[in-house]
Amino acid sequence: MKKLLLCTLLTSALAAPALADRLATEPVQPIEPAVITEPEKVELGKKLFFDPRLSRSGFISCNSCHNLSMGGSDNLPTSIGHNWQEGPINSPTVLNSSLSVAQFWDGRAATLQEQAAGPIANPVEMASSHVLVVDVLRSIPQYREEFAVIYGSEDITLERVTDAIAAFEETLVTPNSRFDQWLKGDDDALTEQELAGYQTFKQTGCTACHNGPALGGASFQRMGIIKPYETTNPSEGRIAVTGEDVDRFSFKVPTLRNVELTYPYFHDGAYWRLEDAVDLMAQLQLGRELPPEDIANMTAFLKTLTGDQPDFTIPQLPPSTNDTPQPVPFETPADSGS
Ligand code: HEC
Ligand code: HEC
Repeated sequence: MKKLLLCTLLTSALAAPALADRLATEPVQPIEPAVITEPEKVELGKKLFFDPRLSRSGFISCNSCHNLSMGGSDNLPTSIGHNWQEGPINSPTVLNSSLSVAQFWDGRAATLQEQAAGPIANPVEMASSHVLVVDVLRSIPQYREEFAVIYGSEDITLERVTDAIAAFEETLVTPNSRFDQWLKGDDDALTEQELAGYQTFKQTGCTACHNGPALGGASFQRMGIIKPYETTNPSEGRIAVTGEDVDRFSFKVPTLRNVELTYPYFHDGAYWRLEDAVDLMAQLQLGRELPPEDIANMTAFLKTLTGDQPDFTIPQLPPSTNDTPQPVPFETPADSGS
């Protein structure tokens, strides 16, 4: 009788490790909901994120390329920027980007605030200038009032603009995925196939790079360790920042959170099917040819990483005034002065 009881205890312990065990022993940790300490700033940052007047054309907002209705990305191989220019690299998701060690594929911005200044003035993205953006915002009384409430004076500076955008971005986390429910002890949250996929993901070695709460974002790694990656995209990755030859073709490991939503994959956006991305990773990074069943299982597991998406009312943006600099949606060489 005693023995039987011990047996049952043992089996149930094996089948369902206690909550604390999973959290302590798994290489992946759950995403926690954002704690919002400055709601007004977050609201302002949300407006700026959605405001196309941050671009020269008056048409492109952060949300154009980081569409929060589509996993925080644009689902294009590379982005379309000002004057329909072809962007150089795939747009990463902004979801959970606050969890990354640095921003951009090559990590050239240390923080979200530093990052946000980039696209505004980038000629192939929003093509505005920091002066122009500040002029546009200053011409709109409701914006002046909001900045005054949050920052203590009406002065609108690039620093304040990017600070507010970063505060909003920090709220763009996606907790409560089925995988996180499982990590927190809910055994029914995953199917057998998904759980088998997670085991293969660990056993094959994917967690060497895709680990932590974001399953990525924590390090820069060479793309194509065992076999080279073939691409026509000229990006060379981290070497652009460090100048070190060892960093050639090393990229920030992308997060695999919400990866089901953020196709196409890799820095050149060359792969549309998640199965193909998984297969390629196993070959290039780990030298493994996996059977189709393992690939299907891992793909099923990766789809359990889709969490609660940002859910909020669409911000209403204050109208321009007679003093607001007008947008230049159709640029001719004469407009740009070149
Ligand atoms: C025209 C498309 C486009 C627009 C507009 C745009 N981005 Fe991006 N964004 C990109 C691309 C492409 C990258 C990757 C660039 C790179 O790594 O070199 C990127 C990178 C990022 C990253 C880094 C994510 C990571 O994981 O490294 C963040 C955060 C971000 N953008 C936020 C913003 C914000 C905030 C705005 C508005 C101020 C904005 N973006 C406007 C295309 C765009
Ligand atoms: C040595 C580190 C490393 C290992 C091991 C590794 N990856 Fe990656 N993974 C990366 C890097 C770096 C990228 C980005 C490469 C690029 O875009 O050029 C990436 C990209 C991906 C992407 C595309 C994500 C996106 O948004 O574009 C998927 C999916 C992926 N990995 C899955 C896996 C799976 C599954 C395994 C195990 C079979 C694995 N990775 C093993 C480093 C690694």
